[in-house]
Amino acid sequence: MGEPDLDVHSDPDDVTAALRADVREGLTAARKWLPPKWFYDARGSALFEQITVLPEYYPTRSEREVLDREAAEIARVTGARTLVELGSGSSEKTRLLLDGLRAHGTLDEFVPLDVSESALAEAVAAISADYEGLSVRGVVGDFTQHLGLLPGERPRLVAFLGGTIGNFLPGERAKFLRSVRDVLDEGEWLLLGTDLVKDAVTLERAYDDAAGVTGEFNRNVLRVINARLGADFDPDRFAHESYWDAGESWIEMRLRAREDMVVRIPGAGIDVSFEEGEHIRTEVSAKFRPAGIGAELADAGFSVERWWTDERNLFGVSLSRSAR
Ligand code: AVJ
Repeated sequence: MGEPDLDVHSDPDDVTAALRADVREGLTAARKWLPPKWFYDARGSALFEQITVLPEYYPTRSEREVLDREAAEIARVTGARTLVELGSGSSEKTRLLLDGLRAHGTLDEFVPLDVSESALAEAVAAISADYEGLSVRGVVGDFTQHLGLLPGERPRLVAFLGGTIGNFLPGERAKFLRSVRDVLDEGEWLLLGTDLVKDAVTLERAYDDAAGVTGEFNRNVLRVINARLGADFDPDRFAHESYWDAGESWIEMRLRAREDMVVRIPGAGIDVSFEEGEHIRTEVSAKFRPAGIGAELADAGFSVERWWTDERNLFGVSLSRSAR
């Protein structure tokens, strides 16, 4: 199924089954939580695109500044023939990398991988149209499960941008970095975007904007559960919050129940009660210090060859080589 240039590794029935399992686990826990990957249906992906241009949300702009400045250097250092992008979304920033790699003359294939088929199909169509002669092979899948399937001529450059690595809990993050290392040959490359620790106000505002777009994005997970599992969440009965946990070094997004309620989720076979003031943790977004991320990359079998930040030191981009 899908477009001819889109490999779909997630059957809609499997997606619903995975959501059902996550909802049953997360919403029956003593402290309720949901995994952030469920924000991204077509509406959620569109809301995220709006977030990236909000004045408060600096990560996208800061990372773009680095990629714009360093794309030629990334191409020179890696000589990549294949660019693999994990969690590519609309692939907008990727164009900076594609331009740099194309100018260098080594790139012949682009492999974007994303859970959102709609976002991916658009990106594949747009990039195929704009980059003549570039082979574009979209993979619809979950980058925690479908990494074994990465095609392409060596050397490959795997880009994981935007700070999405921060969505993993620390143990999952170590496992994920190791799994990326394991699919690469020695000498292939990882380009990783990591948001940096900074003052609480800047962080909390980035996840709770004045226009309320992030709140709508956060509540979208409830709409996804309504649509896929026939639940009767009323998103307006949940307040959006962002919370900087300095001890854990992450931002949490939460949905706080405005009143007591019982939500029916027939597709998961459960009813869930909420007390007024109780919250669901819907996302963690970890923030890093340069030494910390360097150590984590080294533990996973990478050697960090370059480290860049934007002018304001808000966001970091590392370029690492897979070591033996
Ligand atoms: C797409 C995971 C990088 O954590 O900053 C934006 C998602 N959540 N606003 C992030 C997000 C709330 C974003 N990532």
